[in-house]
Amino acid sequence: MTKPASDPLLEITDLTVRYSQGLRRPPLTAVDRVSMSVAAGETVSVVGESGSGKTTLASTVLGLHRAAAGSVRLHGAEILNTSARQRKALGASLQAVFQDPFSSLDPSRTIGMSVAEPLRAARNGLSAAEIRDRTGQILSRVGIQPAGMSKYPAEFSGGQRQRIAIARALILEPEIVICDEAVSALDVSIQAQVLNLLEELQQDAGTSYLFISHNMAVVRHISDRVVVLYRGRVMEQGLAADVCERPAHPYTRALLASVPVPDVNAQQARRIARSEASTLSKFATRGDVGCQFAPRCPFAQERCVAETPALTDIGGGRRVACVRTRDIPAAEEASFAIRLQAATPSPSLPAPAARQTNDIATG
Ligand SMILES: Nc1ncnc2c1ncn2[C@@H]1O[C@H](COP(=O)(O)OP(=O)(O)O)[C@@H](O)[C@H]1O
Ligand code: SF4
Ligand SMILES: [Mg+2]
Repeated sequence: MTKPASDPLLEITDLTVRYSQGLRRPPLTAVDRVSMSVAAGETVSVVGESGSGKTTLASTVLGLHRAAAGSVRLHGAEILNTSARQRKALGASLQAVFQDPFSSLDPSRTIGMSVAEPLRAARNGLSAAEIRDRTGQILSRVGIQPAGMSKYPAEFSGGQRQRIAIARALILEPEIVICDEAVSALDVSIQAQVLNLLEELQQDAGTSYLFISHNMAVVRHISDRVVVLYRGRVMEQGLAADVCERPAHPYTRALLASVPVPDVNAQQARRIARSEASTLSKFATRGDVGCQFAPRCPFAQERCVAETPALTDIGGGRRVACVRTRDIPAAEEASFAIRLQAATPSPSLPAPAARQTNDIATG
């Protein structure tokens, strides 16, 4: 799905985040001059292997880390490195869902208490009965019976807990939700259900998502646009269909090649692409200079490490940080035809009225 570009709701510009590594070593740059934006009603995914800086990016936008440089604007207003009080006021606009619902659902509190908590904290003058009604409504919307409000997180399956965490994130009707590996801990069959739920909720309320995942198949399923991160730097960004089906950057190809597919021929093509990408090249970067992917890139040349490739516009809203974008062999499209396993055929949730059940065995 492709939506027309509009003024960005969230705009991240040259964001840089560093971690101290003690006195003897220079700080680690976990996010390196990252720029990206999310428009109203849009889903933009950040994808990359473990350690590429995705969570650091998300938690800096959420105000959990200080940034070394850059800017994060919500509706044009700077939200980076703001005070705790200013952050609290953002609660109604910006919410998050994490991989482990236990991080947002206190195991010692009923789910009714946890889901209602942002509403209570917002102190918007609602009565106890109104808060209970709103909590029941949002739980129904994610497929959990309001009667489940008095139960504890441990009484629900992993998929149900993630739906409850989504309900908690959505109760204030935020404009944007940051989902950091929100479906990664779920069984593949449940992943597609939760992704479909997020999409349905987006269609209802126009919510935007900054969606973070290491899994290209998940990203392809849900995104309008995709940003590919490697060692804190943007390697490629563009429309999801372009990036996931016609990857321009060798690192994006490697990520796609790591997604398992049932088709034997496609699997063979991927195996070759994977083995190419796992062969160490003789080109090493010198510190921060040069393409960080060069040591693993089957197309690396001396010029790749002589200077850092700039993120260059190649048309169609796509930007790629590779000096060889125009002269490496085109990726074979068929070998990148990934699908989320459980999404074929797409398991859709029942209509909202019929969905008020919390007896779904695994999700
Ligand atoms: N609290 C921390 N202190 C020091 N280094 C960290 C910390 N959190 C993450 N890192 C490092 O920053 C880099 C990016 O990590 P992270 O943002 O968690 O990546 P991802 O979410 O893509 O797996 C990694 O090299 C990781 O080891
Ligand atoms: S710049 Fe060179 S090393 Fe880096 S991805 Fe492109 S071809 Fe590979
Ligand atoms: Mg992470």
